[in-house]
Amino acid sequence: MNSKQPEQTLTNTTASDALSDERDVRRAVAPHQHDFPYERGEEAQVTRREFCNFLALTSTTLFVSAAGLAGKAALDARSEPAHPQKRIEGAGRLAPGSSLNFHYPNEGDTAILVRVSDGEYYAYGQKCTHLACPVYFEPLRQRFECPCHEGGFDMRTGNVLYGPPPRPLDQIILEVREGGEVWAVGRKAGGHERSA
Ligand code: FES
Repeated sequence: MNSKQPEQTLTNTTASDALSDERDVRRAVAPHQHDFPYERGEEAQVTRREFCNFLALTSTTLFVSAAGLAGKAALDARSEPAHPQKRIEGAGRLAPGSSLNFHYPNEGDTAILVRVSDGEYYAYGQKCTHLACPVYFEPLRQRFECPCHEGGFDMRTGNVLYGPPPRPLDQIILEVREGGEVWAVGRKAGGHERSA
């Protein structure tokens, strides 16, 4: 028994319906053909051409949009997120060789500012890059230390000196402005993973 027979019958019926419709239309317009010359075959050509043009235009538009989105995503991935500019209260009165805590860029982000003996300022996110314990400035040894698993970081670069932290501390970008005010103006993730 042929299981495809009903489908075939349906297809044949649809095709013969279309043929019959076409014959009806041609019969109906035949008396007016002289007054209004009208070639259904030509129109079908135009319609197919228009349809192909439409498809080509749609494909091009989709391709250009996809390329634009991909380019924007690549650009976003490369650029650092924008950060606010914040004055660090009390930084101007900080004695060389000491530190103070502040929050940047948001109130929930603790950070630490240190003024080294030559008067330069350096600031970092306070979270250790191992398991996020807060680091502190150790003035005698002039470095940042993490109390949890004995990690240590350089105070001028934020680089790991020893211990398990896999990468440097996040760096806060500073600007010293008129009157000795110190401003935080950006934050950069702390470099790459250390190689084993
Ligand atoms: S959390 Fe800092 S060394 Fe482990």
